[in-house]
Amino acid sequence: MSSSKNSLANKAQAWSARFAEPVTELVQRYTASIGFDQRFALVDIAGSLAHAQMLANQKIISNQDLADIQGGMAQILAEIEAGQFNWQLALEDVHLNIEARLTELVGDAGKRLHTGRSRNDQVATDLRLWLRASVDEIATSLKTLRTALLDLAEKHAGTIMPGHTHLQVAQPITFGHHLMAYFEMFSRDASRLSDLRARFNRLPLGAAALAGTSYPIDREQVAQALGFDGICNNSLDAVSDRDFAIEFCAFASILMMHVSRLSEELVLWLSPRFGFIDLPDRFCTGSSIMPQKKNPDVPELARGKTGRVYGDLISLLTLMKSQPLAYNKDNQEDKEPLFDAVDTVQDTLRIFADMVPHIEVKAAVMKAAAEEGFATATDLADYLVKKGLAFRDAHEAVAHAVKACVGRNCMLTDLSLAELRFACGLDNRPELLGDDVFALLTVDGSVQSRAHAGGTAPSQVLAAIKQGRISL
Ligand code: ARG
Repeated sequence: MSSSKNSLANKAQAWSARFAEPVTELVQRYTASIGFDQRFALVDIAGSLAHAQMLANQKIISNQDLADIQGGMAQILAEIEAGQFNWQLALEDVHLNIEARLTELVGDAGKRLHTGRSRNDQVATDLRLWLRASVDEIATSLKTLRTALLDLAEKHAGTIMPGHTHLQVAQPITFGHHLMAYFEMFSRDASRLSDLRARFNRLPLGAAALAGTSYPIDREQVAQALGFDGICNNSLDAVSDRDFAIEFCAFASILMMHVSRLSEELVLWLSPRFGFIDLPDRFCTGSSIMPQKKNPDVPELARGKTGRVYGDLISLLTLMKSQPLAYNKDNQEDKEPLFDAVDTVQDTLRIFADMVPHIEVKAAVMKAAAEEGFATATDLADYLVKKGLAFRDAHEAVAHAVKACVGRNCMLTDLSLAELRFACGLDNRPELLGDDVFALLTVDGSVQSRAHAGGTAPSQVLAAIKQGRISL
């Protein structure tokens, strides 16, 4: 075969016989996607092989053509894996690069591969295949992180810390319970991921450019060969739909929002003002000027990278807004945001799964902090209610007691029973406040008493962990 017969190889001169001149160098660079869509190489070849097999089965190409295509693709795969494939900007994208090389290697059979196919349904197929593999890797990383959270929560089912609202000490909780809140968030993320995977695992091939093809193709056969659950129902939708990329970025954004909340707490807890935890040095860095510094760079960066993933989502939503059917070149811009979201989420999950088991908990500092700030004031109010006072009156009585303690710079448990009754304005109703109240005013008593489903009591945390393990 002479290269002059290879119209793709001639693309450097002009697109096809229809064109009188080649594109300018700048247009070539502007319109090419080979700089980033090389990542599709393996799925592009897998898609081509399934398509070629179907063409042969349907007698659209000969068995010899199929064998030639398979042989050529095997060599191309080897060249790519060895880093020896010569990617050419002039050949625009991964699809044309591989097809041109195939034709160079096997001649006419290579030119028959594109029968009944367009780059429009080809790229849509590549995207789905590539994203599916990425989704499966991310699901595994997410599972590892969730397991790490369960393990750490189990160790700290009874470790007491202050729970906050408005970042003010609110009520004592267990650290295990706090970690299990993140387990819940990441479990919802995992469920969103499997939902979206099920929705997009359908084959676009067969849609060709937009209207389908006149060859007697068998789309179900290709779908099965490529592990799709079915075919895209409408050829126009098949080539123009990018919902799945948007859904993935929405999933990624929500996940990173959760990561950013955990990161923010790690940063706070690591600050000496809290001093609740330490992180191994391998997740932290120093300062080039301040020799004493140990900075929580990993959680800070994860917090920061959340923004770029939101950006990826907004890019894709904006890309697709108002696009007329069916394929438009705009769609080439779908890849970089999607790749960025996948890479960011994957790296972040891996690093967190590695880091979470090594969070060093300073239980004594946490507990001391829970004992400050009148964290058991609600328990005192609840005690009074159980003795017969209306909740609003109890709330007011305890507010008086807290005010008295603030004035004396002491804790509720520092008061004698007589002082507590007086501070609550209940000295004339001693039956409402007995000695038994002091056990409840301890942080241990407080968390133990919240033993209903979903509560912070160690028994409930352990029950939640057990459920969590079953769900994994
Ligand atoms: N590189 C293109 C993309 O990423 C492939 C599809 C090109 N189709 C076309 N009609 N120009 O979308």
